[in-house]
Amino acid sequence: MKIVLETQRLYLREFTLADAQLLVDLNSNPEVVKYLHEPDTTLAVAQQVLEQIILPQYALYNHGRWAIHIKGTDEFIGWCGLKYVKERNEIDLGYRLFQHHWGKGYATEAAKATIAYGFDALHMQRIMAMAHIENTASQNVILKCGLQYLHEAIVDNCPVKVYELFNKA
Ligand SMILES: CC(C)(COP(=O)(O)OP(=O)(O)OC[C@H]1O[C@@H](n2cnc3c(N)ncnc32)[C@H](O)[C@@H]1OP(=O)(O)O)[C@@H](O)C(=O)NCCC(=O)NCCS
Repeated sequence: MKIVLETQRLYLREFTLADAQLLVDLNSNPEVVKYLHEPDTTLAVAQQVLEQIILPQYALYNHGRWAIHIKGTDEFIGWCGLKYVKERNEIDLGYRLFQHHWGKGYATEAAKATIAYGFDALHMQRIMAMAHIENTASQNVILKCGLQYLHEAIVDNCPVKVYELFNKA
């Protein structure tokens, strides 16, 4: 297991091909995918996402979406991470948790550590984030991480709010 970073309560590790079922379970709750407009996550789709999107990002850019676990119990609670978006030449912050773990500050804790890792260890200059205009929980996480609101946009046919944060080092 490759652990990338740790926080007070959590550790984030690289996904492997063996994690497809975890992604299926996570995405099986309609509330979790409410604002995301993704195709249904079957096991085959999850395997494809791991093989073609998540794992190549680790090899190509040394970052990606990472599995989040609770220290002590090792429970998988979702993911958080950075993703290079080629079309926009941007680094995107993202996260997704099982609903029974919302409201405990885990997303903010993981996202803050992820941003610090991107700036301090990977020397990124700028990190972006987007959230559906009605996704208040996600917008709150983004703002609590210190990103600045830029503007609204339509991305993949969805109305989103766009945010950015610059590396001050
Ligand atoms: C976005 C998500 C990760 C946030 O998880 P979380 O556990 O609620 O996050 P945190 O506890 O760290 O912080 C969320 C903040 O938003 C607030 N919040 C949560 N739900 C809210 C809602 N429906 N309306 C307003 N505020 C809300 C919380 O109170 C908290 O703020 P506070 O610390 O000031 O009280 C979670 O809702 C999720 O997984 N959603 C589905 C996937 C998703 O939308 N991902 C983001 C895509 S852009």
